Amino acid sequence: MTRLIVVSNRVNPPSGKGDESVGGLAMALSAALREYSGLWFGWSGKTAPEFTGQLSLQVADGVTVATVDLEEADVTEYYNGYANKTLWPLFHYRQDLTAYDRSFDEGYQRVNRRFAQTLRPLIEDGDLIWIHDYHLIPLARELRALGVTNRIGFFLHIPWPAHQLVATLPGHRKLVESLFDYDLVGFQTPEYRQAFEEYVWSEADGVVLDPTRLLAFGKTVQVGDFPIGIDAAEFGEMVASERAEHTFGVMAAHTAFRKMIIGVDRLDYSKGLEERFLGFERLLADNPDLRREVLMLQIAPVSREGVDAYQEIRARLDALSGRINGEYADIDWNPVRYVNRNYRRDELAGVYRAAKVGLVTPMRDGMNLVAKEFVAAQDPDDPGVLVLSKFAGAANQMGEALIVNPNSPEEIAEALKRALTMDLKERVRRWRALNEGVQRDDVTAWRDTFVNALAAEPHTPAEGQYYGEQARPLSVDERFLPDLGAERRGDERAFEAPALRDSEARGEPAALRLPSGTGRGLQVLGGDQGTLPRPARP
Ligand code: ADP
Ligand code: F6P
Repeated sequence: MTRLIVVSNRVNPPSGKGDESVGGLAMALSAALREYSGLWFGWSGKTAPEFTGQLSLQVADGVTVATVDLEEADVTEYYNGYANKTLWPLFHYRQDLTAYDRSFDEGYQRVNRRFAQTLRPLIEDGDLIWIHDYHLIPLARELRALGVTNRIGFFLHIPWPAHQLVATLPGHRKLVESLFDYDLVGFQTPEYRQAFEEYVWSEADGVVLDPTRLLAFGKTVQVGDFPIGIDAAEFGEMVASERAEHTFGVMAAHTAFRKMIIGVDRLDYSKGLEERFLGFERLLADNPDLRREVLMLQIAPVSREGVDAYQEIRARLDALSGRINGEYADIDWNPVRYVNRNYRRDELAGVYRAAKVGLVTPMRDGMNLVAKEFVAAQDPDDPGVLVLSKFAGAANQMGEALIVNPNSPEEIAEALKRALTMDLKERVRRWRALNEGVQRDDVTAWRDTFVNALAAEPHTPAEGQYYGEQARPLSVDERFLPDLGAERRGDERAFEAPALRDSEARGEPAALRLPSGTGRGLQVLGGDQGTLPRPARP
């Protein structure tokens, strides 16, 4: 069996005890790896005075976990810096919070090089390598430089934003070019994949060669959307566990005669927590009759405390929850219960089940696994209702939720009211449809689809198709000949692009770089020398 090497910044060895640290990536990967004896490599989360590349090895549940310590400067520049002060806010449309500093970029490149050097000796021929998330975009480039020829895939857990935003990043072309050192690049949704293709069109003079293959920077890469899911089977077991039932009982007792709205998120500005609190406040303000009948429990463990923006949002939420309680609380009722700690996953399952509404309103989110966990935890005979932001990747698959714009407190309040008063028949209908998707498109399906695509033989060009390395004289629309510097051949309808011929003569892969804009209208005229399919506009 082919070995799978998974690489991510945060590593979360599967303990099977439900007490893992939070974060969608870690949850999904520990679930996915449990069935695949492979290697999981990443940062230990610890620092050492000097980077030594010394590996800590641990075997858990058939998965070998190998971690390295980083230096203090690495954490400052790479993790807190380029990853979480530059890429994270920018990719979540928070240009106002995006900080760029050349030292961050240097630290980011350095850590990626260090990861590559440390991982290199562990890689064997035939291993599939799967790299995760925005911390490690240049890792394939570094591995290729060390002679790794294995198939390498990359999955982005967060959104890929509009190309106008990406283009504000100094050095954006270098960053994107390094994605072309992968064999396969995966996104959470078609929207993010298309945004990436738009970048390739607009900023990198590239083209879409077929629905899954892009050409730019003289290289091709396969792209696809692979929506991540939860370990639905495991979650089902957790919901039925003794601890989950106990937690459910405790919650039910504490919310007797009241309907609980639940939110569970890392304390992150992208999660829309302030806007959510304001939406709940509006519900209370507009519906005096509902006031004593509802309460909102927000679980928000602190996250990335080394980044100022995270400390600031924490302070603002403390104030906001205090203000709402100050305004509306009574001697026997607090409308907002706000806690900042981690819970075991089986306890969370019990909490979700006790809630009548799952309120998931990120301003931007790659996917959002909490939405799926909430659905999986519900009682089929009396399910709660999911209220979901249209800007969560999950909204693409979960249309039967009540979809809201998280920027509008009014919309949140209206959806909450509708959810709290929805009749059983409608709740069951919506939940069944949602749950079917959560069970079907689970983490195993995600892993298998991605890994199968990565393992598949590279595309061989079918007749009439054009792929960089195999390119031969092209037949193209006459209007674009000047741009291509192409020459007319004897036959009126066939032309030869010298760019290709010259690069072949130099022994380079004959990938054709199309000048900006030409890709959009390029058309196939046919001909017997091989053809260029009309690149579809992303
Ligand atoms: P992100 O990856 O941005 O953190 P997701 O919603 O995709 O967001 O994933 C968050 C994961 O972290 C979920 O599996 C959720 O259950 C878990 N989680 C969030 N808060 C807590 C908490 N307080 N205790 C335990 N797990 C948590
Ligand atoms: O899912 C997005 C993500 O950034 C993961 O890469 C990460 O592990 C998770 O959120 C939690 O963030 P952090 O690892 O910074 O605590």
